[in-house]
Amino acid sequence: VLPSRVSIVEVGPRDGLQNEPGKIALADKLTLIHQLADAGLTRIEAGAFVNPKWVPQMADSEAVFTGINRRPGVRYSALTPNLKGFERARACGADEVAIFAAASEAFSQKNLNCSIEQSLEKFAEVARAAREHQIPLRGYISCVLGCPYSGRVEPELCRDVAQALLEMGCYEISLGDTIGTGTVASTHALLDNLLADIKADKLAVHMHDTYGQALANIYQSLQMGIATIDTSVAGLGGCPYARGASGNVATEDVLYLLNGLNIAHGVELDKVARAGAAICKTLNKTNPSRAAVALLNQ
Ligand code: HMG
Ligand code: MG
Repeated sequence: VLPSRVSIVEVGPRDGLQNEPGKIALADKLTLIHQLADAGLTRIEAGAFVNPKWVPQMADSEAVFTGINRRPGVRYSALTPNLKGFERARACGADEVAIFAAASEAFSQKNLNCSIEQSLEKFAEVARAAREHQIPLRGYISCVLGCPYSGRVEPELCRDVAQALLEMGCYEISLGDTIGTGTVASTHALLDNLLADIKADKLAVHMHDTYGQALANIYQSLQMGIATIDTSVAGLGGCPYARGASGNVATEDVLYLLNGLNIAHGVELDKVARAGAAICKTLNKTNPSRAAVALLNQ
């Protein structure tokens, strides 16, 4: 059975913008975040407190967080790979922080410069600090359906990492198909494995649309009881450590899917579409969201 309500986690301002090559003005980032909140999105990933040498586009995350005109009821979250990142996030009032492991050793090395086990040690420190300061902690796992460096990924390893992150205190694990190679069959196999031990309400899916399979994989996930979906306005994104990975699934396309299924989500599709059109204009890129383009051309 499908869930009657889905929670959308909008990752465009972080996962989307982190991958843009050109400099993006602070004002443009803030405008986007404000438009997304105005559209009814209540979980917005607004920045990343990572090493700015590695991801320059997120270097101004302090200014982003302090510049947000906060809307009541909206949670503005940030990636925090280590204690230094956590302290930066806390200092500027991030409502939620996220740690991000991988289901692939090779990807962990490229993305975090350490093994999965070493990353979990760093994350445990962040988790302790988050608990101490009562800041909600989310966990990501990248490459759950394939790795750009090592190819196939074992669902068992993904399950072990998910368990470790939950034990640390993550309230939810977001399963990232970072390079978008997943299919309905591999999504089914992964979730089947995870759901043997982990409740569906502890899991979210984070699909990329590289091979055009994101909506199909999300529909498969919904059918298996997953009710939290990460999306990115105008399909912004990719991953700086996954060459060729195209954007996250577009928020607009997922909202259209949910509307057709009569699943509640609390977000206004037309407003998200306008926000997406605006950021595409700012970035001078074509809008990859089919739903947004169709709606805006009506
Ligand atoms: P490191 O370079 O391996 O080593 O960083 P380090 O810990 O020895 O630090 C080196 C330098 O970085 C030092 O500065 C530190 O102070 C500084 P220096 O002495 O050279 O001047 N540093 C920091 N500066 C600011 N904020 C920090 C911080 N930490 C260290 N938090 C580290 C290790 C993990 C920090 C680095 O590898 C890193 O930042 N990685 C993040 C990469 C990243 O952001 N990737 C993209 C996000 S993941 C993703 O997109 C996937 C996801 O969307 C899911 C999906 O799509 O599947 C989540
Ligand atoms: Mg992503």
